[in-house]
Amino acid sequence: MKKKVLLMGKSGSGKTSMRSVIFANCMARDTRHLGATVDVERSHVRFPGGLVLNLWDCGGQHAFPERCPAGRRGGVFRDVAALVYVFDVGSRDLEEDAHLYQSCLEAILRSSPAARIFCLVHKMDLVQEDQRDLVFAEREEDLRRLSRPLECVCFRTSIWDETLYGAWSGVVCQLLPNARQLEASLSSFARIIEAEEVLLFESTTFLAIAHYQRGERRAARGAEKISNIMRQFRLSCRKLTAAFQSMEVRNSHFAAFVCAFTSNTCVMVVMSDPSIPSAATLINICNAGRHFE
Ligand code: GTP
Repeated sequence: MKKKVLLMGKSGSGKTSMRSVIFANCMARDTRHLGATVDVERSHVRFPGGLVLNLWDCGGQHAFPERCPAGRRGGVFRDVAALVYVFDVGSRDLEEDAHLYQSCLEAILRSSPAARIFCLVHKMDLVQEDQRDLVFAEREEDLRRLSRPLECVCFRTSIWDETLYGAWSGVVCQLLPNARQLEASLSSFARIIEAEEVLLFESTTFLAIAHYQRGERRAARGAEKISNIMRQFRLSCRKLTAAFQSMEVRNSHFAAFVCAFTSNTCVMVVMSDPSIPSAATLINICNAGRHFE
């Protein structure tokens, strides 16, 4: 099931940087050398449940409806499953930002009225830490108002921390055709092996796509942090020309395992009884993986 996702926003807002960090394993510092995107760059990413994200990174200088040649306008905005619109939080011209955003929404309303809308208030690292909540709340309120009659979901993001993974996990989970079933299967698996926590990740992006926590649900922020740590770890492995296979961390209170699960997922399993032998848990993970293919 192919779903088209438009990545739009003004030139320099950070679209290609976030795409490179999330989908091409690029380091945040390497995005400084990216050139402007001319026209549209497309990429495909496969997720469980047969979902293929067809990501259209639309260069800010050319892709807005009013700047796009009339013959192509319909094509860009047709059959869109989601619009991910990136705003540079440091932008000075809020009026122009609002105008360009609304011109995209009008085109979406005409050509793909069922598309989901996500707004990323990006480069939040440039805002003083104690001001971030306030700045984001203000922007979110403005964006909700500007989006009417459509509904938008807003995230704060920066390529320099894990917020980017949280936002993109949120986008992907909304588009997964079998998200509920995946959560239900994951919690059955976790209960059978008596795990404390289980997190399912897509294996190339390390985006979290399903989560089980015994008892209370943990804040999503934990998953974002683990995505970030695992990606950094995998990049370090690559530098040593070693492929990441699995990881085990244990102390006297718990044992945690991160390993390949299915052909396109990895799993993190946390066991609160560290006396259970690692081999037993690893066999359970390996056997369960077949049921998730
Ligand atoms: P076009 O291709 O012209 O549409 O621009 P774009 O939206 O793709 O912007 P691009 O990704 O090329 O980023 C422009 C600049 O913003 C680069 O120098 C990035 O390093 C920087 N940048 C991207 N994301 C962030 C962020 O979260 N924080 C900060 N401080 N800088 C960022």
